[in-house]
Amino acid sequence: MGNLHVLDHPLIQHKLSLLRNKNTPVKEFRELVGEISALMCYEATRNLPMKEIEVETPVAVAKAKVLAGKKLAIVPILRAGVGMVDAMVDLIPSAKIGHIGLFRDPETHEPVKYYCKMPNDVAERNVFIVDPMLATGGSAIAAISFVKEYGVKNITLMDIIAAPEGVEAVRKAHPDVDIFVASVDEKLNEHAYIVPGLGDAGDRIFGTK
Ligand code: PRP
Ligand code: URA
Repeated sequence: MGNLHVLDHPLIQHKLSLLRNKNTPVKEFRELVGEISALMCYEATRNLPMKEIEVETPVAVAKAKVLAGKKLAIVPILRAGVGMVDAMVDLIPSAKIGHIGLFRDPETHEPVKYYCKMPNDVAERNVFIVDPMLATGGSAIAAISFVKEYGVKNITLMDIIAAPEGVEAVRKAHPDVDIFVASVDEKLNEHAYIVPGLGDAGDRIFGTK
């Protein structure tokens, strides 16, 4: 079973409280999504493999460490996942970016796919699928399945807020995928929105409501 990591770092939790507030304006909301994504990325990449190299400093030769192993790809689920990408690429400039377009059917809450474009060499990369919200889990499960169809072996899911129902559904459908979240909230409401959550992440990032 994939591990669930709830990132309780004080900076993440403080910024998450600001993000939840319904009075937080669009500009600040967008900035907070970026800041939280960077902090979560820092934690979620903690166990990346490293190798030792030698570097000549102005003083002597130092034994130093650099990232080793597979390169990364970041795959946001459109739309809201896009709000997490820039901050992550700032930390990992060699990462390539794939996009998966999914929206939830308002009646059935099932994900509907409308776009998919992956880097050519995605099968050789470790993939981070990112989306601020994991509600029923339908979108994340579909996104992970699409990425697996490209032959990707190592997938990590990163969401800011999750519902317990979504976590359980993803772990059941894709037990090999590790999940990083800043919070597992109480429940879903009758519209499959996360309670207490933060409302509609896409609308709040892009100011569409
Ligand atoms: C939201 C969110 C996730 C999805 C989560 O996207 O960004 O992608 O819902 O819900 P689920 O776990 O029940 O699938 P939405 O479908 O509202 O699309 P948007 O990002 O374009 O607003
Ligand atoms: N998508 C959102 O943006 N928010 C929720 O609470 C659930 C799905």
